[in-house]
Amino acid sequence: MIIQSKLPGVGTTIFTVMSALATEYGAVNLGQGFPDFPMDEQLAELVNKAMKDGFNQYAPMPGWMPLREAIAEKVQFLYNSKVSADAEITITPGGTYAIYTALTTILQPGDEVIVFEPAYDSYIPNIEVNGAKVVLVKLEYPEYKINWAQVRKRVSKKTKAILLNTPNNPAGSVLHENDINELRSIVTGTNIFIVSDEVYEHIIFDNLPHLSMLRYPDLKERSFTCFSFGKVYHCTGWKLGYCIAPANLTKEFRKVHQFNAFSCHTPMQVALAEFLRVRESYTSLSGFLQQKRDYFISLMQKTRFELLNSSGSYFIGATYKNISDEDDRSLAIRLTREFGIATIPFSAFYQDGKDDKVLRFCFGKKASTLEAAAEKLSRI
Ligand SMILES: Cc1ncc(COP(=O)(O)O)c(C=O)c1O
Repeated sequence: MIIQSKLPGVGTTIFTVMSALATEYGAVNLGQGFPDFPMDEQLAELVNKAMKDGFNQYAPMPGWMPLREAIAEKVQFLYNSKVSADAEITITPGGTYAIYTALTTILQPGDEVIVFEPAYDSYIPNIEVNGAKVVLVKLEYPEYKINWAQVRKRVSKKTKAILLNTPNNPAGSVLHENDINELRSIVTGTNIFIVSDEVYEHIIFDNLPHLSMLRYPDLKERSFTCFSFGKVYHCTGWKLGYCIAPANLTKEFRKVHQFNAFSCHTPMQVALAEFLRVRESYTSLSGFLQQKRDYFISLMQKTRFELLNSSGSYFIGATYKNISDEDDRSLAIRLTREFGIATIPFSAFYQDGKDDKVLRFCFGKKASTLEAAAEKLSRI
């Protein structure tokens, strides 16, 4: 049988290569973005309890109502934003799915979507599989900020959406008020949607506020804002998240969702509905991970890598300009094979493989893992 690929440009990614290599060489893995410490026991027990209490059948298509209500309360508390649990929140199997569904909801063949690079790996295939066109704007090394003049040049009559990611994976950069003003000046009076990937909303450092689209009524009215419980509660394997969008947008979003996943894992939703009310569990996250970031920075001082800035997410970039002229991909592979340390090269987040000689490290790991990694890196 011959199949005409919908994603002819997609091959084996460096993420798959690095994961396989990390396992093969038993490497310390700072490549993949997941915590290696346990999730909260109370939350795990609540899921167990929900299962034993018989919450094991299909949840409603938009999500378990008490969970949606708890999210609405949380959004009011965090962003002073009123959202309707009934009409504006949809529980999804992960943040990635929420982004995919949002894009599928709005895109028609030929539409254009502005995407910033370095970009999380699902964005571009999600757009292309819908027959739409990706319009790339590179964030600027080494701060990875948005060059709004470039964005203005790339906006056209065909622009259907701008895809944002704050805090950013892999760069750890975040949006500031001036970015919001620039964004506003571009989209006001247009039909441009915003798809906002905010899965790291609670991992933001140095007392910076997370500038969610939900804070700004004029941006919120055109936004699909996407979140992930996996990132907040150290359970990335749960693949549970949600999308918040105005009622008319959510209505269309749910049409796509209804005939795809339809609904999500019921016991986890029942458990989260209760656990979300423990505010400390998410308000403490930035402090917890900031300590890890700072510990990793201090450990890395005995290496020749130079760390870049990370204001959010659990990633930090490091340049190796003083160590080698190898391309970042070759170096990442060699570090895994020869030194037993896995990372991700930043070029993996660019369509054209732009190589700033930066590797991505995930510091959302146990202290002992970070220490073992730094020890290996100090030998390079
Ligand atoms: C920027 C970004 N968006 C979305 C996700 C995925 O979220 P989920 O696992 O809930 O699909 C990740 C996970 O690495 C991410 O880094």
